[in-house]
Amino acid sequence: MTDATQQTPAAQTPAGQATAAASGAAATERFRGKQHTEAPVAGTARVGLLASEAIAAVHDVIRRHKVTYAEYDALKSWLIQVGQDGEWPLFLDVWIEHVVEEVANENREGTSGTIEGPYYVPGAPVLPAEATLPMRVGEAGTPLLFQGQVTAVGGAPLPGARVEIWHADADGLYSQFAPGLPEWNLRGTVIADGQGHFKIHTLEPAPYRIPTDGSCGMLIAAAGWHAWRPAHLHLKVSVPGHQLITTQLYFESGSHLDDDIASAVKPELILAPAPADSGEGNEVTYDFALDKA
Ligand code: DHB
Ligand code: FE
Repeated sequence: MTDATQQTPAAQTPAGQATAAASGAAATERFRGKQHTEAPVAGTARVGLLASEAIAAVHDVIRRHKVTYAEYDALKSWLIQVGQDGEWPLFLDVWIEHVVEEVANENREGTSGTIEGPYYVPGAPVLPAEATLPMRVGEAGTPLLFQGQVTAVGGAPLPGARVEIWHADADGLYSQFAPGLPEWNLRGTVIADGQGHFKIHTLEPAPYRIPTDGSCGMLIAAAGWHAWRPAHLHLKVSVPGHQLITTQLYFESGSHLDDDIASAVKPELILAPAPADSGEGNEVTYDFALDKA
């Protein structure tokens, strides 16, 4: 088993105050960094169609609900604030992305996808097929052995598949998006063995509350919603010749499976861990099936 690369004791690096502004700014910067192309992704006909139908949908809401000038101005000021807070990635990934994912993956036969969310970072440390994710000494949480096999649809093992995994810590914080956490805390790129098997030692994540002190939080409070996502592991599983799948796995015993603020739970993505054979924490097996490219 490969051990953690970071040795910073948890007690010496309190996560500090994770603010919406800090995570929003980091998520905005991260997203900008991944947009390499300046080439248009759609022609004028398609842009015109999508933009006019989206605008018409808003007109329809205004007419049906007799939206007032005061409400229009409140919306304008809120939209300006979302940009200033850097919260567009958070807003879009919570309330819009799940439908984009549904459309993108509707023809897959293999493992279901779900949203990526704003906190993926490429290039996490590469780890062998059995590995412990980088974590602080004394990292809080119940140990979890997450293991499985990556195959093609139909069951042929996919040797050397990449299992990228990232998740929040016990405080619901993601490394690189909250102050004070080691760079790659609870993030790794695990390379499956010759039969596509992997064994990842980590900790069960806690339920995650999207930041409430920024403009997304303002909307949630004003609408009387809650800000919770169920505890989840994020994954990207890939191998050349097959389609990469971006997904999340949830926990049967956890809260908010039925009312995820990001609407990203699917029944087939819910894990039921059992006490580990080792006597330490829990373990669960989940196999991934990848569609051909
Ligand atoms: C958001 C955060 C997540 O961890 C996630 O999985 C999806 C969305 C967000 O804050 O937008
Ligand atoms: Fe998340």
